[in-house]
Amino acid sequence: MRRFGLAIAGLAAALALTACGGGGAGAPTSAAPTTGESSAPAGDTLVGVAMPTQTSERWIADGNAVKEGLEAAGYKVDLQYANDDIPTQTQQVDAMITAGAKVLIIAAIDGTALTSQLQAAADAGIKVIAYDRLIRDSGNVDFYVTFDNYAVGVAQATALLAGMGVTDRDGAKQGTPEKGQNIELFAGSLDDNNAHLFWKGAIDTLQPYFDDGTLVVKSGQTTIEQAATLRWLQETAQKRMEDLLTSTYGGTGEGLKGVLSPYDGLSRGIITALQGVGMGPTITKGLPIVTGQDAEIASVKLIKDDIQSSTIFKDTRNLATQAVTATQAFLSGGTPEANDTETYDNGVKVVPSYLLPVVTVYADNIQKELIDTGYWTAEEVESGVAS
Ligand code: BGC
Repeated sequence: MRRFGLAIAGLAAALALTACGGGGAGAPTSAAPTTGESSAPAGDTLVGVAMPTQTSERWIADGNAVKEGLEAAGYKVDLQYANDDIPTQTQQVDAMITAGAKVLIIAAIDGTALTSQLQAAADAGIKVIAYDRLIRDSGNVDFYVTFDNYAVGVAQATALLAGMGVTDRDGAKQGTPEKGQNIELFAGSLDDNNAHLFWKGAIDTLQPYFDDGTLVVKSGQTTIEQAATLRWLQETAQKRMEDLLTSTYGGTGEGLKGVLSPYDGLSRGIITALQGVGMGPTITKGLPIVTGQDAEIASVKLIKDDIQSSTIFKDTRNLATQAVTATQAFLSGGTPEANDTETYDNGVKVVPSYLLPVVTVYADNIQKELIDTGYWTAEEVESGVAS
């Protein structure tokens, strides 16, 4: 709860900036109405918030932070989770439209599955903000708040290279790395636009080391389709890792040095498979370097314990603040400020976007990045459980 309290504090600061015309990140480009009436929303203005799943703690934190931020700004909120089920999410969005929502904030399960809902929203004059994941194939996406997703992939690959001693943490090559080091690659869910950007950022970063023979994907499974993990499921990644260990690494993992993993849940499945054939149990004792994303508390503990090498921290409190700020901009008749108007072509239009930066977390900066910032407490990191 403390985390969400801080999110509200951050939001209040952002709103204060906006109110004084400070032009803070995501501040509206056109001013709120100044006709004497307050720009504060009527208490009955409804905002619909559609989140994908509660199986990953990041989406729970996102949903809570967006809801609390919107409520603090005076809006009514309908927050729904869809259990990673596409028909459930389309029904939820339909229901929000019917209920009279004025803005929809949507983290899509399948980025291509909401076209008819968004047409209905546009017909009803409802603004649509894509949250974290781009909604594709629709001209009716008004704004996109997210992190720099290509940079996430670059950071994951850099953390893999650094963990293996091929580069330093800034990606600078270290001496003459040994040739023929075996790695395996995992990707996210192909229906999530982010999965492709994470992959591209990572592969662009690894490519020079494939080209010069430093790195080898011994299984030969080098396409995103081969590496993909439908719905980002931990057990699916664990099963694929187990199969790779059997088919390619003699059932023992011998010679496997690193695994590119795009999300902490997958990382934990991969690590379970690696430890299951007797590798490790720690990196110091030979466990391959495994990357991650989201700074989930169970993975932060594994990083502290020398089991998972790294994660990419995306401060969802800041993303929630951006979503609320963009909502306010729309509802006061303005347009949210984008800081990227080129990258996110959804197949129909380039969606104006606000991108937030990401941070790589290793064991030695957990304190600075996650505890000192109030994202997790020292006790939570110690136990690996969110309180
Ligand atoms: C998000 C990641 C998350 C993944 C799985 C992606 O769209 O950007 O933060 O790890 O979905 O939930």
